Amino acid sequence: MSDTEFDLVVIGGGPGGYVAAIRAAQLGMKTACVEMRGALGGTCLNVGCIPSKALLQSSELFEEANHSFDGHGIEVTPKLNLKNMMGRKQKIIDDFTKGIEFLFKKNKVTYVKGRGQIKAVGQVEVTEGEDKGKTLTAKKILIATGSESTPIPNIDVDEKKIVSSTGALELDKVPGHLVVIGGGVIGLELGSVWRRLGAKVTVVEFLDRILPTMDGEVSKTFQRVLKKQGMGFKLKSKVTEAKATKTGVKLKVEPAAGGDAEEMDADVVLVCVGRRPYVDGLGLEELGVKRNERGFIEIGEDFQTNVEGIYAIGDCVPGPMLAHKAEDEGIVCAEKMAGQQPHINYGAIPGVVYTMPEVADVGLSEEALKEKGIDYKVGKFPFLANSRAKANGFPDGFVKLLSDAKTDKLLGAHIIGPAAGEMIHELTTIIEFGGSSEDVARTCHAHPTFSEAVREAAMAIHDGPIHA
Ligand code: FAD
Ligand code: NAI
Repeated sequence: MSDTEFDLVVIGGGPGGYVAAIRAAQLGMKTACVEMRGALGGTCLNVGCIPSKALLQSSELFEEANHSFDGHGIEVTPKLNLKNMMGRKQKIIDDFTKGIEFLFKKNKVTYVKGRGQIKAVGQVEVTEGEDKGKTLTAKKILIATGSESTPIPNIDVDEKKIVSSTGALELDKVPGHLVVIGGGVIGLELGSVWRRLGAKVTVVEFLDRILPTMDGEVSKTFQRVLKKQGMGFKLKSKVTEAKATKTGVKLKVEPAAGGDAEEMDADVVLVCVGRRPYVDGLGLEELGVKRNERGFIEIGEDFQTNVEGIYAIGDCVPGPMLAHKAEDEGIVCAEKMAGQQPHINYGAIPGVVYTMPEVADVGLSEEALKEKGIDYKVGKFPFLANSRAKANGFPDGFVKLLSDAKTDKLLGAHIIGPAAGEMIHELTTIIEFGGSSEDVARTCHAHPTFSEAVREAAMAIHDGPIHA
């Protein structure tokens, strides 16, 4: 094969694309990955998961130093150095992007720099960037071009005063008042970052609760905890206008059901009302690749689109827009291309909101079980009664487990509390293995750990927990 002939060309170097490229190469396919950003790692590494988690960690330490250390008998007067905090975040990103380049070299994946366009089945042209003009031929093409922030009509994002998540990760000073449009994952994570660093934060949410797809009880408790921390909420409301002025932003907010508009002033407005698939300039219309009514690329079980030889994974196809879902699809797609028969259990993909407390879930919510008419049992245990949570000073939240009323099979797990994002994996494994709540209740858990709350919630489904 020549330098430009490949078994597989992947377009997009995010968690879906780069992981698929590495797995394909490991399985013996000659693979190239085309990425236009100038760095590998996609949204997740460059402007998503990793920078947001770096800032969440830094701002949580600042918050604890300001408000919790004295409770431990430690007296400090913390001072924010935002430039250094941002520098730390950037260093983490740079180290990881270099790391992926190293992994490409190690696995002999060719990194092509620029925008890829599918000219025909089996042919990708680089239309912009360092490798502009190159034409690659491929037996198979995998689209992993990800997603972008969904705009709100008539609200212009300038990434300075009216920002998407990308701008909100880059602010050079703490805004006096940050208005967040959308009480979803991005709004609550990045709203938490800036509130901890000193901003007044108001979240405007269209629906009657934050995180509307999560279990209702969790979302209510979460809102109460965030309110106690100082975050403001305007539910059942919509922003109809946001205009940048010399000094800040003027907004008009209306009740979602219609009614009189109220004016609001902000220093910065964060628009985060969801994300949409990004497929600009790929040439999908010309090729006849089918997309659904929301613009996601339609795929079959083997990730192939309606056009033979063209596949798609990650945020640009239907399903949760999560990095680990994209990665799983990348691995499974490459393995299927190599003739193996792996599968993904879409019912066992955990979701985590990395606030403090964290919120994590896997499987079905109580609302979803009711809607499906499934008989279930509920077991709950509060962190207030968990010795480790008390000792560490994190008493907010609970573990809630939902199991089939007849078979006891675990159907859903919902945690709001410290380290929820780590604890959820025990329950993800149980769901993946088709286990029961009794399996969890009868498994020895080390003492004292937060995870004991998981076991006690499982015991609550049966004869009752010991410590509540
Ligand atoms: P992407 O990561 O979007 O990668 C696609 C890549 O394709 C991009 O780098 C893009 O430049 C490139 N590309 C697009 N078109 C072309 C083209 N024509 N030619 C060449 N290259 C192209 N998920 C989690 O699971 N956990 C989190 O904590 C989390 N935090 C997030 C925080 C924020 C602020 C945001 C915005 C998202 C977060 N996500 C998180 C979601 C996560 O980032 C995405 O689900 C994930 O990145 C999707 O991976 P992907 O590979 O499908 O697409
Ligand atoms: P989201 O879908 O999580 O939340 C958007 C919110 O905006 C919803 O609550 C919705 O009801 C509300 N909304 C929609 N239109 C509105 C309007 N006009 N006015 C007011 N509210 C409105 O979307 P978000 O937060 O933008 O995040 C996008 C995606 O990125 C997430 O769905 C998730 O897949 C991913 N992500 C994941 C993270 C994680 O796993 N920790 C962190 C950040 C993002």
